[in-house]
Amino acid sequence: MKIISVLNHKGGVGKTTFTGCVAQALALTGYRVLAVDNDSQHNLSSLLNVGVRQPNILDVYKSTLADAPKAFLSAVVKTGLPNLHIITSCGNLIGEAAPDAFHLKNTIEACGLGRYYDFVMIDNAPGLDRLQASAVNACHEIFVPTELRQFAVDGLVEMERTLEARCPQGGRITKIVPNFYRDIRRHNTFLAALDTMFPGRVTATRIPLDSVFDEVVTEGKILFLHRLYSKGAATYIKLMYELFNLGEETVWDAVSGKRDEYIRDRARERYYKMKTEDTEDNT
Ligand SMILES: Nc1ncnc2c1ncn2[C@@H]1O[C@H](COP(=O)(O)OP(=O)(O)OP(=O)(O)O)[C@@H](O)[C@H]1O
Ligand SMILES: [Mg+2]
Repeated sequence: MKIISVLNHKGGVGKTTFTGCVAQALALTGYRVLAVDNDSQHNLSSLLNVGVRQPNILDVYKSTLADAPKAFLSAVVKTGLPNLHIITSCGNLIGEAAPDAFHLKNTIEACGLGRYYDFVMIDNAPGLDRLQASAVNACHEIFVPTELRQFAVDGLVEMERTLEARCPQGGRITKIVPNFYRDIRRHNTFLAALDTMFPGRVTATRIPLDSVFDEVVTEGKILFLHRLYSKGAATYIKLMYELFNLGEETVWDAVSGKRDEYIRDRARERYYKMKTEDTEDNT
């Protein structure tokens, strides 16, 4: 089982969108995935159409270490995708709720989660307080979506320094994923700067600026089932190779197969609903 924290101390850079899309792509490829919403804004819980549930991640932080594994497992809920589960968050989640920055790590270890999941994806709030430190200490890898802007790029160097100081056991950024990319000179200049500052850690695949991400959230839809032929979906499928060494064709075949099944099932449902309505009208 691999645990990944999605982190950036800057807000609005696409952390939640990235966490949700990667978790969905992994689940549609056939992996068992647990998403953890570690942000009081609970956007990941909304993106996966689950909303806030009780118990949730706050109950895990508030539990004693002896009770936390039970709280963690009972906070797991299903999403619309069979292989994807989530622990939701809530509006009053604060860092101080966690007794220390190792509580989440110790809890996950005590749960024996590896029996149930191949991947755990933790979405984080902007900032670097005890909540993010908890996620960093618990994870094996840190993925950082970023904008291509001066302050965002400057901030990553500082963020890595802060992580090393606060979380010496786990604070290294593994992958930086450029987001909101457009093929313009300014963006390409920042990409070159990132490559120099973090050699080998910036993905060659950049997530394009694409309104599809806002559309699927607004409509409560799943990118890969409802907008598979968008630029955004294609980029995430490609990204799976750089992030997880999963071949683009393997991911594409699995995801498009699941989409075909989904379309067939919806068509069948509509057909039988229509038939039932016709029968009722004729009686
Ligand atoms: N590649 C993209 N192209 C266009 N819009 C995007 C892209 N990625 C994310 N967005 C949109 O940008 C907004 C911010 O994204 P998101 O909520 O994922 O950021 P965040 O880093 O999680 O924010 P916060 O720091 O508040 O948690 C959302 O409306 C999302 O739909
Ligand atoms: Mg977010």
